[in-house]
Amino acid sequence: MRVLVTGGAGFIGSCLVDQLLASGHEVAVLDDLSSGSRENLPADVPFYEADVRDADAVRGVFEKVRPDAVSHQAAQMSVSRSVREPRFDAEVNVLGLIHALDAAVAQNVERFVFASSGGVIYGEVSGPVQEDAPGNPISPYGIAKWVGERYLQFYSREHNLRCTALRYANVYGPRQNPHGEAGVVAIFCTKMFQGEAATINGDGRYIRDYVEVSDVARANVLALEASELPPFAAFNVGTSVPTDVNQLAEALRDACQAELARRGSRTTVPACGYGPPRAGDLRTNLVSYDSIRRVLGWAPTVSLANGLPKTAEWFATKLLRSS
Ligand SMILES: NC(=O)c1ccc[n+]([C@@H]2O[C@H](COP(=O)([O-])OP(=O)(O)OC[C@H]3O[C@@H](n4cnc5c(N)ncnc54)[C@H](O)[C@@H]3O)[C@@H](O)[C@H]2O)c1
Repeated sequence: MRVLVTGGAGFIGSCLVDQLLASGHEVAVLDDLSSGSRENLPADVPFYEADVRDADAVRGVFEKVRPDAVSHQAAQMSVSRSVREPRFDAEVNVLGLIHALDAAVAQNVERFVFASSGGVIYGEVSGPVQEDAPGNPISPYGIAKWVGERYLQFYSREHNLRCTALRYANVYGPRQNPHGEAGVVAIFCTKMFQGEAATINGDGRYIRDYVEVSDVARANVLALEASELPPFAAFNVGTSVPTDVNQLAEALRDACQAELARRGSRTTVPACGYGPPRAGDLRTNLVSYDSIRRVLGWAPTVSLANGLPKTAEWFATKLLRSS
């Protein structure tokens, strides 16, 4: 199968590219490199630098690649930027999606997978939430993901484009960009290896569902390969394991400390500090993965106990010169 990954130079997209290649698929990438990097990709993967806001450019790439399937990962990722600049957010995350859907229809693409978010479309929940829970997005970023799924439904009905939305929980792992406000593991890891105290917002009792990037990429591969899915399907991709930020910070500190010791360093990782709560942060966000397990046979395989040391090792290699 020939797969076009938009946003394929990013954190999740590049992991997906690796897995698709390992599964014997042909892969091409469309990315504007605004937060992704060519270094994340094997040199021989066909790469098209293009902005999804540019409909002609997107169409041109699809005409050259002629993909059988598309995984649409390209997005502006910042919730706070979406609040400050809702129009920019919609241009990338709504219009960019529509451009990719139109180009997919024009090229008779068989399957279209969309990176949605279980973290922002449900709002506050009390336990692992199922896919049929009502949408309650608060930020323009969340609204764009929610409305993006409605567009997928429309294109599946109107154009027979088979569409799947994967609603990721909080994704972490190697290659995550630590420069945004999302990605607490990447942000904390970077601080810890720089010898600075990471800051926990508020009291840190914010429950999240942390899913490792290779598991998320595998969910994409399964959705891209699936031939029996309904015209439109939406699946949560998470672990249902509740972890609050205090627990996460402690476990990550241990992982970073162990990584330093493994490298012969005697540096002590500073303890985290506490800052003001962040406006709008949900207390609890957890997703159920019953549906994707039943339909695609997906279940998470990487626990935090395994994923955090792996992530710490990657950040240490990137950040520590004398390793
Ligand atoms: N990381 C998470 O926890 C998480 C959770 C839920 C959903 N998602 C979604 O997963 C997808 C991938 O996110 P990620 O964490 O890998 O982030 P990322 O920033 O690493 O990846 C996004 C990629 O899209 C590219 N991109 C951004 N704007 C573009 C544009 N206008 N045109 C073309 N390319 C553009 C970036 O350069 C980058 O390579 C996104 O759609 C995101 O909304 C991520």
